[in-house]
Amino acid sequence: MTEQRTRGIAPRSIGTSLDRVDGPEKVTGLAAYAVEHGADEGVSAPLSVWLVTSTIAKGRVSRVDPSRALAHPGVTAVLDHTNAPRLEQTDNGELAILQDDRVGFRGQVVALVLAETSEAAREGAALVEVSYEPEPHEAELREDNATYKPDKVNPAMETDTDEGDVDAALASAPVLVEQTYRTPYEHNNPLEPHATVAWWAEHEGREVLSMFDSTQGVHGVVQALAPMLGLEPDQVRVRAPYVGGGFGSKGEAHAHVMATVLAAQTTGGRPVRLAVTRQQMFSLTGYRTATISHMRLGAGADGRLTAIEHAVQEQTSVVREFAEQTASPTRMLYAAPHRRTSHRLARLDVAVPSWMRAPGEMPGMFAHEVAMDELAVACGLDPIVLRERNEPDLDPETGKPFNDRRLVECLRRGAERFGWADRPPEPRARLDGDWWIGTGVASATYPAMKQPGNTARVTSLEGGRYEVAIGSVDIGTGARTVLTQIAADALDVAPTDVELAIADSLLPSASVAGGSSGTSSWGSAIVAAAQLFRADHGAVPAPGLHTTASAADDPASEAYAFHSFGAVFAEARVNRWTGEVRVPRLHGVYSVGRVINPRTARSQLVGGLVMGLSAALFEESHRDPRFGHVVTQDLATYHVASHADVLDVDAEWLEESDEAFTPMGSRGIGEIGIVGTAAAVANATFHATGTRVRSLPLTADHFLE
Ligand code: MOS
Repeated sequence: MTEQRTRGIAPRSIGTSLDRVDGPEKVTGLAAYAVEHGADEGVSAPLSVWLVTSTIAKGRVSRVDPSRALAHPGVTAVLDHTNAPRLEQTDNGELAILQDDRVGFRGQVVALVLAETSEAAREGAALVEVSYEPEPHEAELREDNATYKPDKVNPAMETDTDEGDVDAALASAPVLVEQTYRTPYEHNNPLEPHATVAWWAEHEGREVLSMFDSTQGVHGVVQALAPMLGLEPDQVRVRAPYVGGGFGSKGEAHAHVMATVLAAQTTGGRPVRLAVTRQQMFSLTGYRTATISHMRLGAGADGRLTAIEHAVQEQTSVVREFAEQTASPTRMLYAAPHRRTSHRLARLDVAVPSWMRAPGEMPGMFAHEVAMDELAVACGLDPIVLRERNEPDLDPETGKPFNDRRLVECLRRGAERFGWADRPPEPRARLDGDWWIGTGVASATYPAMKQPGNTARVTSLEGGRYEVAIGSVDIGTGARTVLTQIAADALDVAPTDVELAIADSLLPSASVAGGSSGTSSWGSAIVAAAQLFRADHGAVPAPGLHTTASAADDPASEAYAFHSFGAVFAEARVNRWTGEVRVPRLHGVYSVGRVINPRTARSQLVGGLVMGLSAALFEESHRDPRFGHVVTQDLATYHVASHADVLDVDAEWLEESDEAFTPMGSRGIGEIGIVGTAAAVANATFHATGTRVRSLPLTADHFLE
């Protein structure tokens, strides 16, 4: 593999709103999602798989009686822990299903039914009789849970940080904000539920486990499954040509993927297909842990922070650890000489928490940015002035300079656009008919990340055209379009001269579409391959020449702390009689490096704002601790913001280019829209009503006296 130092590229297509290159396929219905592939792509006469899931939260499966299911017309097999294929590795307890009789959470896979049709599989699953030996379980996150300190928090951050003498600084602080903030369980609900198809087929002379999977990373699925199955990575091929969203829930393979693959091991090459139901997504495909944040902010009367403490309690599961980095933004957002963060986990008999859009930053910044609003009130300061006073010169976490910290510019520009100057300083100052009106602000920040292990291949075609190949995935964000633009500019050709090949693990390796790192990571590899191709083959190459390269680390980039910033402004109206909250205006201003495609970028940022609004007002999964399951397991009882909830939501960005970070000048934009947003809305409801709510969502009951 060649590592190529990249140079900045001249933006030609970059910066323009190129139409989505896959738009016609999508709007005409030609785009095939995971379960929609047919015989022409090798998926002939697939069997359907249906999952049988545990009805206890903890204990053992004592008996599985498949006889009534097997007698049902169309059912071909029932697999349980006694007859499922054995795995070579079982340390990932979420994926190692049907390997023993243990039940670690309610909703865990305890059996599979294969049948000729989806209907027969579902009917068969209802006929499988599972007996259990239940044990007492603990499924409730409470302040008095037994907790432990994980070794690291997601992805590989320090669990705790401690600088200076926080307790002494807090004890002597003229102004102290000491409060507890709570965020609920939230479940990722992308439009397309998770789905997988798997079958053994011959590919270039050898048997390969072939899959279509609705995933954020085809290579990640191979890396997760192959060692568990005792296969070499090149014996597994995963494709994901179209994916209907993920929000992190498709960032790692979950149990349904292994269920499909185990089933495919038993059918003699016949494809098997599994579509997770919306209800099953509430136990099988990850979720955002609830969080309890104990915040202490110490400041002078002028609002200058002297100490910041953020102690987090959250949960993980018995079958697999996931430790969310809830306090991570607190480590770098504001200056203060004394600072401490910590994360403690309760290991509960619950489904496995995982990534959900800005895991960590989203709930963590709700706590920190509402606490900052409380500090502004305590000091009698405008919340924007308070934030300006606490700007650090260097990154408080690493001591490095920020590459480009434009938080204050975002706040000022947003204030101007939003009409902040007219804001009455006191809360509960404006009543319009039956509605209290208020405005609120919060900062947003998200780290700029690039993942290792990205490689791209450029091939010259006839007629001055190029194939540009990388095994990345477009989950609906517009990645196909922006990578086409990046490739075109890096090769100095028109976007129509680029044929982009993605979404297949046979293509050069690519990291997950997650952590807002996709475009930066894949785009840098594409630029490296394009620049090396031109260096090796010139501007007018013969057809059929290839160059494969990855972007070399730029040692100079080690000098900086790379983050994006933003400011979110919300107007809230709270009904004085019913407590109903409406958000007529929600505006974000962002500093995210160069924007590659204004149309798709705006969709990402507005989408993040809407998801933050949804978290602010509605999203909450209720787990019944007596039985261990989520009872709000459908879109009727788990409300996601709909059109009627979304009024004037808009995003803009500062003109800039961050070539210290990527040769495109861009940073990531997938997650920064959600961070800070719920705090801005909560702060606006305080300003409207004078009632301070410290837990999400901001339901009506909070505002009724
Ligand atoms: Mo995102 S939660 O990093 O897919």
